Amino acid sequence: MSEHILLERDGPVLTLRMSRVEKKNALTLDMYISLTEWLRDAGRDNAVRVIILAGDGGMFTSGNDLRDFAATPPLSPDSPVLQFLRAISTYPKPILAAVNGVAVGIGTTMLLHCDLVVADPATRFSLPFINLGLVPEAASSLILPRMVGHRRASELLMLGDMFDAPAAERYGIINRISEPGQAEVVAMAWARALSAKAPIALRKTKALLKSESSTVATRMQEEATEFASQLVSAEFLEAVNAFMEKRAARFD
Ligand code: COA
Repeated sequence: MSEHILLERDGPVLTLRMSRVEKKNALTLDMYISLTEWLRDAGRDNAVRVIILAGDGGMFTSGNDLRDFAATPPLSPDSPVLQFLRAISTYPKPILAAVNGVAVGIGTTMLLHCDLVVADPATRFSLPFINLGLVPEAASSLILPRMVGHRRASELLMLGDMFDAPAAERYGIINRISEPGQAEVVAMAWARALSAKAPIALRKTKALLKSESSTVATRMQEEATEFASQLVSAEFLEAVNAFMEKRAARFD
């Protein structure tokens, strides 16, 4: 496992921290491999309910290590970067991101796959692929127009300029701007709140939010199937009992 990915466990919350401060946390192949393996392990561990992605040294990440990119371009579907992107884009549990400093390239595109994102007010974002003679990655050419509209997506992906946290919030790329230096505090508060929710219902909610079915009728049926199965679940029983007994529900 790469020494540049730090693991911090706080009860049901696992923080994966990119830590290569002298290179602004630029991601190497080894770092992608470690991130993917830790995510897989945490996916199988019932005791981990929520993942937080964060960076060390007051910054998120300057994106793919440009030397690695040039030396070992991710040409195969099994390349570490594509394995990492597949892992976060299909991850069954909530993934949050606490962003600060710089979030460049994959530092911004990985946010498109996270469920909740909070950023420090001084964070600078960019999708500089065009400036490097490259094209969008991580399905950002699909997700970004859906998220921010074609007009803004064109601006971000065709001009490739830096944008600030208020713009990222306005566009809906992040949920919230924290007080200075407090992004991880907000992310941890969200993570604790999510950890207290019914875990199966939460996974199903995430899966529905990520479903590719696009008609109202199909989606309504998908929801109805899951809704019906949750109505006879131990989670629903506990939630109703807790309500009747005027106590907080426990989903251990
Ligand atoms: N890959 C490899 N090395 C990187 C890097 C990256 N993505 N980003 C930063 N570094 C290295 C720099 O080369 C420099 O190394 P050095 O000290 O050996 O010269 C060190 O990290 C510090 O970076 P520096 O550029 O001096 O920091 P800064 O605060 O002035 O600027 C950035 C920060 C992120 C804006 C700037 O480093 C940058 O634009 N990096 C490239 C981002 C990029 O294009 N990512 C790939 C997207 S696909």
